[in-house]
Amino acid sequence: MNKKFFSACLALALGAGASYATSVYAQAKPDVLVKQRQAVMTLQGKYFGPLAAMASGKAPYDAAVAVRNAAFLDALIKMPWDGFQPSTKDEKSRALPAVFDDAAKFKEAQERAQTAMSHLVAAKDEAAFKAAVGEVNKSCGGCHESFRAK
Ligand code: HEC
Repeated sequence: MNKKFFSACLALALGAGASYATSVYAQAKPDVLVKQRQAVMTLQGKYFGPLAAMASGKAPYDAAVAVRNAAFLDALIKMPWDGFQPSTKDEKSRALPAVFDDAAKFKEAQERAQTAMSHLVAAKDEAAFKAAVGEVNKSCGGCHESFRAK
């Protein structure tokens, strides 16, 4: 690579990095935060659904799908929470006021779900998988019960 070309590439990469950093520090718009957190929840539904079907015997157990979806879910379960900013309180969404009024309990529910997901990732056989799916299912439902409008 010649030197001139290299420095042009470097400038481009740095430029992209700088604009990325700006967008990280800029306050995201409340309606965008809501869209993003709902999108993550939707994907959780997408990747958890087949596991729930396997655990309940509605679909045959497929270890490859179990491992792949558990890894996706383990990342997804960490993503929605920074979207529940107080700035989103008055946006149209299904988040109940308790999300903001009882932030400590909401945080506990997040941690319960993350712990359950780590058990799902660690599950080494079908029995452990089934137990972990049950635990995850309870953690999703438990939070929705207290913090999501019907
Ligand atoms: C700590 C609380 C909490 C946990 C844990 C949680 N959710 Fe949610 N979920 C919410 C809230 C609050 C909303 C409503 C968000 C909104 O409307 O902005 C929601 C919304 C949803 C939605 C609807 C999305 C939409 O577009 O309206 C789906 C689907 C969903 N969750 C699936 C799941 C699944 C599957 C799990 C478990 C793997 C899970 N959630 C775990 C709190 C939680």
